[in-house]
Amino acid sequence: EKQGFRHFMLKEIYEQPSVVRSCLETYLQPNWHAQTNADISPIDLGLASELCENVDYIQIVACGTSWNASMVGKYLLEQLAGIPTMVQYASEFRYAPAPMLPNTLTIGVTQSGETADTLAALEMEKQRKMGLESPYDARILGITNRPESTLAHMVDRIINTQAGIEIGVAATKSFTAQLMGFYFLALELAYRRKNLALDKLEGLIKGLRELPAQIELILEKQGQQIEELAHEFADTQDFIFLGRGINFPIALEGALKLKEISYIHAEGYPAGEMKHGPIALLDAKVPVVAIAMPGLVHDKVLSNAQEAKARDARLIGVTSIDDSEARSTFDDLLFVPHVDELLSPIIAVVPLQLLAYHIAARRGLDVDQPRNLAKSVTVE
Ligand code: M6R
Repeated sequence: EKQGFRHFMLKEIYEQPSVVRSCLETYLQPNWHAQTNADISPIDLGLASELCENVDYIQIVACGTSWNASMVGKYLLEQLAGIPTMVQYASEFRYAPAPMLPNTLTIGVTQSGETADTLAALEMEKQRKMGLESPYDARILGITNRPESTLAHMVDRIINTQAGIEIGVAATKSFTAQLMGFYFLALELAYRRKNLALDKLEGLIKGLRELPAQIELILEKQGQQIEELAHEFADTQDFIFLGRGINFPIALEGALKLKEISYIHAEGYPAGEMKHGPIALLDAKVPVVAIAMPGLVHDKVLSNAQEAKARDARLIGVTSIDDSEARSTFDDLLFVPHVDELLSPIIAVVPLQLLAYHIAARRGLDVDQPRNLAKSVTVE
């Protein structure tokens, strides 16, 4: 069943182009053009208008990788649809929910649809709003990979991320599929609220359609290089991942992937926070991975990376800019195709998944079943 791959995790990383492709086929209107089809939405999530009209706030509950995807989602919902969005750890929300705000859409994000904390947080939210009149209605949307799950039965509607069964404990293809879910949701809400110029919307949809081929390119071109690079970190004890803006959650995800399967201590930080403490950790023994995709914060990330370099840290850059500055800043470059900054998380995460995988595999660890972890955490 591993189809020639050494581990399910690697197979699932390589399935991402087809997962993204199938999301595009399911949720995008074919042949939509801003000029000719302005009166219909380019996205077809089948959401009833009661669910997505009059949404003043969004609150998201999730755990682990699903929480990281939700943080990218927050950025998209705020920047594209213009809706203030809070992301909460389900385990925290359960015992200290934020005060209720009117006209709030709650979203539960869980790959398995069975994570106990996420289900309990959503149940608590339902109870809290029970009997209250609108505008405190408990509208709940689920984003899940399992349409038959407990989550799917308890919410008003789901977005089915349809990544297929994921066996590796480390979430990979289900993460990219969750990101796709958030792109569609943010664009759908942006369209309905007229929050985004139609040509910008069309440009992003065109960009989404190019993603499968671009992910394929990373897998083809980077697979070998990352495997070789990973050999150099078999004995490393600490890693730092830096990102900013929409790629800050990707730094968190890169760190989570690495720690969970390789047992290397890793931390993800917003790059600008380094100088407020974590920079004290840096020396020649602590490699730093910086996500430096072109866009608003590219130069800022680069200067944060240079500060790390000044502390002798080995610098690995994930970027689509191949220029002399990138080459002189980074010791190792993981090149990825150029995409719109808003789409860059889905491209930047792939080399980080591969890096975590190859480091863990090189260490001879049980990549698919890491110690102390279960695929689905069904207890509190
Ligand atoms: O099934 P869920 O998405 O609710 O799972 C949440 C986390 O347990 C999960 O993402 C976990 O962090 C993964 N093992 C990360 O790779």
